[in-house]
Amino acid sequence: MRTIVLYQSSTGCAEKYAQDIASAVGATALPLKKFKWKTLKDYECVVFGGWVRNGVIQGLNDFLVHYDDMMANKQDIIIFSSGMSIPTKDGRAELISSNILDLYHVRYYQLRGSFDMEKLSFVNKLIMKRSLQYIAQDESATPERRALLSLLDRPIEYYDQDGVGKVVTLINRISTQARE
Ligand SMILES: Cc1cc2nc3c(=O)[nH]c(=O)nc-3n(C[C@H](O)[C@H](O)[C@H](O)COP(=O)(O)O)c2cc1C
Repeated sequence: MRTIVLYQSSTGCAEKYAQDIASAVGATALPLKKFKWKTLKDYECVVFGGWVRNGVIQGLNDFLVHYDDMMANKQDIIIFSSGMSIPTKDGRAELISSNILDLYHVRYYQLRGSFDMEKLSFVNKLIMKRSLQYIAQDESATPERRALLSLLDRPIEYYDQDGVGKVVTLINRISTQARE
């Protein structure tokens, strides 16, 4: 079974996850913008991973523009996100809701990624600094939100091996079913 892994990444986490998933299942990983959609039919399983900015999975809309084609081709769709939040049931539900993923027939995985202020583009750094300033001034901010202030001077390094394993297992399971 052929699988393609597409991604949109700003500092490399979603890209690394996409490459590791692809290499574990013998597939290719490609930036979403470089994928030639006219080759979509060559694949039985399509994976997309994007980084999260203010609750929105980047690149997801551009990917889902092709949802009807993927459904018509009877392709399996797997989506993962890379964000700095610690994955929780509620956090996952929030991401599903803010990205209206429940409208689609897809499997979704929330992978925790790294965060490094120094690696951000000018615009993303500005947005993040503004958000952190806002939290610093907000007296009612929860301890969890206050903890984000440490991001200014200390990067988070995280790799969700377990999450990668789950996505790989799912692709392998789909592949086995396709052969049966
Ligand atoms: C402006 C901005 C907003 C962010 N918003 C969120 C967010 O809402 N939730 C989250 O989990 N992570 C958020 N992050 C963190 C990134 O999603 C995280 O660092 C991710 O691992 C980056 O993936 P990438 O390296 O593939 O770009 C934000 C980062 C920036 C710069």
